[in-house]
Amino acid sequence: MEKEKFYITTPIYYPSDKLHIGHSYCTVAADAMARYKRLRGYDVMFLTGTDEHGQKIERIATSQGVTPQQYVDKIVAGIKDLWSAMDISYNKFIRTTDEEHVETVKKIFKALYEKGDIYKSSYEGWYCTPCESFYTEHQLVDGKCPDCGRDVEKLKEESYFFKLSKYQDRLIKHIEENPEFIQPMSRQTEMLSNFLRPGLEDLCVSRTSFTWGIPVDFDPGHIVYVWLDALTNYITALGFGSENPELYNKYWPADIHLVGKEIVRFHTIIWPAMLMALDLPLPKQVFGHGWLVINGGKMSKSKGNVVDPKVLVDRYGLDSIRYFLLREVAFGQDGNFNNEALIQRINSDLANDLGNLVSRTCGMIEKYFGGTLPEEQDGTEFDADLMATVASTVEKFEGYMDKMLFSDALSELWALIRRTNKYIDETQPWVLIKDETKKATLAGALYNVCETIRVISILIQPCLTRTPQAIWAQVGIEEGELTAWDSTKTFGLLPKAVSVKKGEALFPRIDMKKELDELEEALKAAQAEAVANKMKQEEAAAEEEGETWEEITIDDFCKVHLVTGEVIASEKVPKSSKLLKNTVKVGDEVRTILSGIAKHYTPEEMVGKKVVIVENLAPRKMMGEISKGMILCAEDKDGNLSLVTNDKMFDSGCDVR
Ligand code: MSP
Repeated sequence: MEKEKFYITTPIYYPSDKLHIGHSYCTVAADAMARYKRLRGYDVMFLTGTDEHGQKIERIATSQGVTPQQYVDKIVAGIKDLWSAMDISYNKFIRTTDEEHVETVKKIFKALYEKGDIYKSSYEGWYCTPCESFYTEHQLVDGKCPDCGRDVEKLKEESYFFKLSKYQDRLIKHIEENPEFIQPMSRQTEMLSNFLRPGLEDLCVSRTSFTWGIPVDFDPGHIVYVWLDALTNYITALGFGSENPELYNKYWPADIHLVGKEIVRFHTIIWPAMLMALDLPLPKQVFGHGWLVINGGKMSKSKGNVVDPKVLVDRYGLDSIRYFLLREVAFGQDGNFNNEALIQRINSDLANDLGNLVSRTCGMIEKYFGGTLPEEQDGTEFDADLMATVASTVEKFEGYMDKMLFSDALSELWALIRRTNKYIDETQPWVLIKDETKKATLAGALYNVCETIRVISILIQPCLTRTPQAIWAQVGIEEGELTAWDSTKTFGLLPKAVSVKKGEALFPRIDMKKELDELEEALKAAQAEAVANKMKQEEAAAEEEGETWEEITIDDFCKVHLVTGEVIASEKVPKSSKLLKNTVKVGDEVRTILSGIAKHYTPEEMVGKKVVIVENLAPRKMMGEISKGMILCAEDKDGNLSLVTNDKMFDSGCDVR
């Protein structure tokens, strides 16, 4: 019989040099779902990838002195490494710079134009580059982007528009008739009342003020709006519009587009309207998950609070992190990340409940039976309840997983793990062993525990990718029929003579107090390294740019306030080999100025130096310190630095011209 298909997607990520734990959250959730469906016998297509065009990427690349293509190539390699470290089992990775994607987007744009659903006009309004979104004046909040709160730019460009308004009624009807289309329900209400019912405006779908994107081939100078380009990935990845549309024919429409809550509106309004215009079927469901937040706020590089998933995986192992992400956050809602909660979960749920269950069971079978259970086994009065719990757990677990309620599914499974630990306490093997006539009862009880562990190890597979094999190796379970999903529905499949081999603890306990300090340090160090790398790249770009000087007028020069200063204290900046933190007297004022001169001057040498500083440079945060101003240095061709000083040792605070 042909397998039923299941097509799940994550959003395609903007190539950023640091994907954080929030991005991993979405991808791990999609991965858990893809694995679950494969285990249930579906033919799964799991798509992820990168969204590589647009003004934002062009600007970052320019600031780093590389071409956009060079920039994205490097970052994408890093993203693939991260997904491999997190065992993300995607079937396909699409890049919007893939030639096939580019060609199909051009064709789609043209088809919509020829149909009259895209027309030329001009756009005047606001644009948020970090969100790559257009806003009208009244949509702004205090003059800023309503989504991310950052500054917006005024645009006035000749543009193409997509007739979004034409599809408003059909969209409303579709959403109302298909309650499963937008999940959770709260997001559906939000879309209808905030966007659809108030009325849709036509959408600007081309830009002319930058070049990094897919050109409109019949009108050079116009670049396809990055969201139109990006959303199309869900079908171009399957070969739609190419010579090989087999995957498209097989997998489209998508069963689930899994996306973060802030991009639900692109997926439930713009994307379906585009598909309607193209006469293509709509995805069956868009699931908008919440954010992983830190102390109630969003993780962001500018706030300096991003958590590097690789640091966590290196310290605690992949499964601890996957478990935490899926268990801690009720899917659909925001969830808080903090180091203490993570260690707490590892210690209580993983080390204490699951790890301990496996290790004490194997330990007892080794101690009481030399590692192999005898075939003669009797039941106990506690068996029926344990078996009933196993059966009901399997059913509830599947019910929750079908609805992507990972936290509920895991919570149910852990109730079974605790129930099994309780069963050991009820049957008291350490008492039974003392009575020779109870040997068969003891063997029967330990067998039931092993059999329950087998069921647990199967159910756990979508979420934890390494622990199941580790359990099977210890409890002597061969991968195959005994680990097939449907085998969870029959209790007692494990051969009676279970042979165990106690191995290392599945999850070593962590000393919370000691670890909290160390983890904080490690996360900060990873972040500092990222900032330092970025500064290095910017410096390199600035150096390259320096070769072509731009002439400035005396008025331009006068904008820079140069004054004399005196360094009155100086110290190294922890974890930075380049920076010194200087305390500088400037007239009556004392300020902190960070300088990248630690390799050229010791802090002792700095003290007493009469320097020249840029007084009115905007303050900048580096390594957690605010630096106000800049100390001037000369640099020779080998990169050696020499302070610019004032020859007659004038007091601090004098103008320098
Ligand atoms: N490129 C667009 C998506 C285009 S899809 C056709 C984009 N990229 S993104 O890199 O900014 O975000 C990708 C996903 O990561 C989004 O679903 C977003 O919600 C998710 N997350 C980013 N930070 C997150 C958290 N802190 N927590 C959970 N998810 C987060 O948007």
